[in-house]
Parts: sequence; C-alpha cells; structure tokens
Amino acid sequence: MKSKDAIISLKNVRKEFGMNSQATKVINGISLEINKGDYMAITGASGSGKSTLMYIVGLLLQPTSGEYLLNNKNITKLSGDELAEIRNKKIGFIFQQFNLLPKISAWENVAVPLIYSHVPQSEQKERAIKALSEIGLGDRVDFYPNQLSGGQQQRVAIARALINNPEILIADEPSGALDSESTKQIIKILDGLNKKGQTILIITHEADVAKHAKRHIILVDGLIKT
Ligand SMILES: Nc1ncnc2c1ncn2[C@@H]1O[C@H](COP(=O)(O)OP(=O)(O)OP(=O)(O)O)[C@@H](O)[C@H]1O
Ligand SMILES: [Mg+2]
Repeated sequence: MKSKDAIISLKNVRKEFGMNSQATKVINGISLEINKGDYMAITGASGSGKSTLMYIVGLLLQPTSGEYLLNNKNITKLSGDELAEIRNKKIGFIFQQFNLLPKISAWENVAVPLIYSHVPQSEQKERAIKALSEIGLGDRVDFYPNQLSGGQQQRVAIARALINNPEILIADEPSGALDSESTKQIIKILDGLNKKGQTILIITHEADVAKHAKRHIILVDGLIKT
C-alpha cells in the first residue's frame, strides 16, 4: 500500500517523561505507518513502551518530538482541545479494565461519545441499543457494568469504541483481564470487524492473540525491533 493511504503516520517520534538529566526516555525514535484496513499487533516486554506508544497514537499523549500525521495532516502542534475533538471522532479505545462508567447503564456507556459529538439525544439511545444488539448484548442494554460479566463489559466497551465509526480502533491488552473463553469471543469480534474493513491496532502479551493480526511489530526499549 502506498503511504498516501496511511491513516496515521509517525515520524521519528520520541517521548520522555520529566526534564533534562532526570528525564525517562520511553519512546526513542519510532516511525510507523498505519494504513486503512490494517490489523496490527504490538508486543514487547513490560515497560518497553507499548502503552505509551498507544497513548501517542490515540492522541492521549503528545510526543516530546517527532511528527504525527493523521490523514496526511500534520497534527503535531494542535491544542489539547483540538486533539480531543479529533480523538472523539476518529479513535476508538478499548482498555484491559474496560473503563466503563459504573453508575450508568450499558446503553448509556455506549452513548457517551455521542454526547461529545453533539448527536441529538433522541438518536443517542437508539444508536447505542443498535450497537449493543450487533454485538450480542441486545438483552443487556439496561444492565449496569457490575451486573455484567467481564466479557460482556468488554463487549460494551467495544460498542462504545465503535459508536462514532472511528477510523481506527486501538486496544491495549483487551483480553488481559478475561478468561480464555471470553478472550476467544473478543478476538473473534475484532477479527470480524477487521474483515469488514475496520483498522485495528492491538497491544497484547499473548502470542495467540497477536497471531490474529496481519502485521506484528515488537517493541524493545522504546524502539521497533527490526
Ligand atoms: N507518566 C510517566 N512518567 C514517568 N515514566 C513513565 C510514565 N508513563 C510511563 N513511564 C515509563 O515508561 C516505561 C514504559 O511504560 P509503558 O506503560 O508504555 O510500558 P508497557 O510496554 O505498556 O508495559 P506493560 O506491558 O507492563 O503494560 C516504563 O518504564 C514506565 O515507568
Ligand atoms: Mg502497557
């Protein structure tokens, strides 16, 4: 695929925490292209920088240096508010611990990104319920997170991540807190989404999970192992 098809292009990205001689260098010059339809796995030892890289790709953290191009547009210098708006529209996240809001129901959790994108209230519930039904949770829409199994909570999180039709779905250890049966189910969902064209970036410790992806990169001390 030619680079003009890249959704995301990182150029020599570095991330340090702290200042000067005290700085912890975590990402040490990563260049990476993620193309439309990619299914990319990132593995690497604990502390190698996987989550940090994902936060950068997901616009939750800004790199210390280097460039970030999203749909060929350099967004390296945008403000926090501008990045938040792009993030809400274009990026869907799934985390190991699901990160659902505990005091609202499954459908309300799924609808949260719609609130931020100013979708009329009347549409929010309908869309959230449809998304949950598509993922096999049509009979759980009014359940609270603590009334759902881990696998079900992660499916709610997937529905939430997809509700704005993001350009890329980013998953950090999405099966890390799940048993093997729920892991299979979640991976099957991700595989199916990719088959339908969803671009996916997944971070995982598990070789079994990584092998579902079409591309696999390994991080070592904040660099891509070649
Ligand atoms: N806010 C921060 N301030 C200082 N150091 C940080 C910060 N965030 C991460 N680090 C350091 O960056 C390194 C990489 O962390 P990161 O969370 O990206 O690793 P990881 O590859 O995701 O590990 P794991 O597999 O355990 O999740 C670690 O050494 C960590 O201590
Ligand atoms: Mg991590």
